[in-house]
Amino acid sequence: MPSDRLEGRVAVVTGAASGFGREIAVAFADAGATVMVSDIRETPNEGGFEDAPGMTTVDLIREHGGTADFVECDVTDAAQVKNLIDETVRRFGRLDVMMNNAGIYRGGKLTHEFTEDDLMACFDVNVKGTFFGAQEAVKQFLAQGDGGVIINLVSTAGLQGHPNQSVYNVSKGAQANLTRCLAIEYGRDGIRVNGICPTYAKTSLTRAFYDDKDFDTMFVDSIPLKRWGESKDVADLAVFLASDESSYIHGALVPLDGGETLCRYSVT
Ligand SMILES: NC(=O)c1ccc[n+]([C@@H]2O[C@H](COP(=O)([O-])OP(=O)(O)OC[C@H]3O[C@@H](n4cnc5c(N)ncnc54)[C@H](O)[C@@H]3O)[C@@H](O)[C@H]2O)c1
Repeated sequence: MPSDRLEGRVAVVTGAASGFGREIAVAFADAGATVMVSDIRETPNEGGFEDAPGMTTVDLIREHGGTADFVECDVTDAAQVKNLIDETVRRFGRLDVMMNNAGIYRGGKLTHEFTEDDLMACFDVNVKGTFFGAQEAVKQFLAQGDGGVIINLVSTAGLQGHPNQSVYNVSKGAQANLTRCLAIEYGRDGIRVNGICPTYAKTSLTRAFYDDKDFDTMFVDSIPLKRWGESKDVADLAVFLASDESSYIHGALVPLDGGETLCRYSVT
């Protein structure tokens, strides 16, 4: 639904070819923002739930009448993240919103079974990627001198422990604490920093869980609202956190979980 809630803002979204990042990029543009889409690929990951998976996110935004461009960026590489922000400013003049969304999942093992590669893969993309994105955004915001917004795509995995995915949870826990540190350090500069913490939602990242009928039944039973999360749920919250409507929300790690983290068991 087009609106003007982000009119005149320039937003960067990492990992924006697929899943949450794609939905967020389109929602930002629908709200009036100019969007720099970035990812290591231009079309969605296989196995996701995207509409029009053959289209790039930039094409989708332009089809909606919005303004967007693409810069390839692997968030694990600090130089590529710097280039992403430099290119955004060169093409669009400034930066207002940094959406650190890119992330990967590793699971299916107990802690003693994970390899160092599993640990470092999660650390590289989820922790370093968010850290580099925040660093470059803050530098640009400080140079502009009129604040900005950083939103980190964390997870309920950053708020609590889960079995069989400790390497993912430690990376999400690090993102959660980075969100707090950034909020404390840069609030005085008008830079608002918040985190979004979804439970499992339907993207390529969770496709194997979604297709596992036993998991699906157990999971939906555990959610008071009795459904999976959707990318749209995440995008709606991202637009709110990017907009002035959330101007006094700072350092928050917002659960987006249908009530999952309220309780140990739900009513079936
Ligand atoms: N889907 C869920 O249930 C869920 C729940 C909580 C949090 N999250 C988090 O949401 C974020 C987005 O996940 P998603 O579910 O949309 O997954 P997804 O796999 O659908 O999309 C992730 C995107 O990130 C990109 N990416 C991967 N590595 C990258 C890198 N090194 N540099 C740049 N881009 C890279 C991929 O190409 C892909 O387009 C992640 O941080 C994930 O941890 C997802």
